[in-house]
Amino acid sequence: MSDKVVIYPGSFDPITNGHLDLIERGARMFEHLVVAVLTNIEKRPLFTVHERVDMLRAVTKGMSNVSVDTFSGLVVEYAKRKKAQALLRGIRAFSDYEYELQMALMNRRLEPTLETVFMMPAESYTYVSSRLVKEVLLHNGSVKNLVPAIVEERMKEKIASRRGANG
Ligand code: PNS
Repeated sequence: MSDKVVIYPGSFDPITNGHLDLIERGARMFEHLVVAVLTNIEKRPLFTVHERVDMLRAVTKGMSNVSVDTFSGLVVEYAKRKKAQALLRGIRAFSDYEYELQMALMNRRLEPTLETVFMMPAESYTYVSSRLVKEVLLHNGSVKNLVPAIVEERMKEKIASRRGANG
């Protein structure tokens, strides 16, 4: 049987320790895991795609079967190009379930041979999201241990430079 490739798609703006936990779990289950950053994002991101990829690469450096890539358009088309067997998504709490179910079923309708695999992050990360981490840091709260140290550092730099630019 050929090596099993899984795609872990997302915005990763920025990567949190919850994402990282999921990458570690996924990388133990599949021969190759591709973290795929969506480039045609509608929301106004804090980090550019390049910056997000750079942080993802930095924090997954030691993981030999993990790579980081970008994609635009439909994730199922990207997965096909990568010859992936599955998509990986994390479910933290019940509130994630509805959105994830809709996406998984829509993706299955678009590409019936591609499975979506759900994994739960460690329970200590069940409340951690990129959105909340940004909000807390924006208001000078601590995000220590919720994101990798390099991400915390870059978020602080980014927020400081935005404040500088806004006078
Ligand atoms: O981290 P996010 O923002 O929850 O990730 C959402 C993502 C990128 C997985 C989703 O928006 C996506 O796959 N977008 C690509 C376009 C696509 O295929 N849309 C149909 C999915 S049902």
